[in-house]
Amino acid sequence: MESIQIRHAEPRDREPLSRLRHSLWPDAPTEEHGRELASVLSGAPVGTLPSAIFVAETAGGLVVGFLEAGLRSHADGCDPATPVGFVEGWFVSESYRRHGAGARLLTAAEDWARSHGCVEMASDAWIDQTLSQSVHEALGFEVVDRCVHYRKAL
Ligand SMILES: CC(C)(COP(=O)(O)OP(=O)(O)OC[C@H]1O[C@@H](n2cnc3c(N)ncnc32)[C@H](O)[C@@H]1OP(=O)(O)O)[C@@H](O)C(=O)NCCC(=O)NCCS
Repeated sequence: MESIQIRHAEPRDREPLSRLRHSLWPDAPTEEHGRELASVLSGAPVGTLPSAIFVAETAGGLVVGFLEAGLRSHADGCDPATPVGFVEGWFVSESYRRHGAGARLLTAAEDWARSHGCVEMASDAWIDQTLSQSVHEALGFEVVDRCVHYRKAL
């Protein structure tokens, strides 16, 4: 396995990041991810609170993973007195998994959140995403809640 570098995403990462984002969030086409990223990577604020994108890049320059983090004013199970670092999206290409890239992306996001005064990191996963749950728990997250969402037409 080639050595992997973790760094902040830059405008030149837009195309590979769009493809990785589409793999994680297939409901939106790659082009839509690309449009969204063009704005984010050019420094346009995503919301009122800070956010950051980290990428995992091989020595050959291939972007094989990313983690998008943001601050949230509150998150389930966390102290509402201070903003919380939140894992908004986290993905490593299948052939590069189980070599520590995911853990290193998370460490970068945690350092970034700490640098913004956070003392907690939060995240979520769908109930059927057992891989995601295993990785979260292996990397120190504890389950604080399980939730069922409802709707009713009016
Ligand atoms: C979650 C994800 C980013 C982890 O990336 P990764 O590079 O494989 O993670 P790491 O190699 O750093 O693994 C860290 C630890 O998580 C655990 N882990 C990783 N993959 C696992 C698996 N398939 N089964 C059980 N535990 C696993 C292990 O404890 C691992 O440490 P170890 O290899 O030293 O035992 C990757 O699996 C992925 O992209 N999954 C699909 C998308 C997803 O679920 N994203 C998270 C929610 S948004």
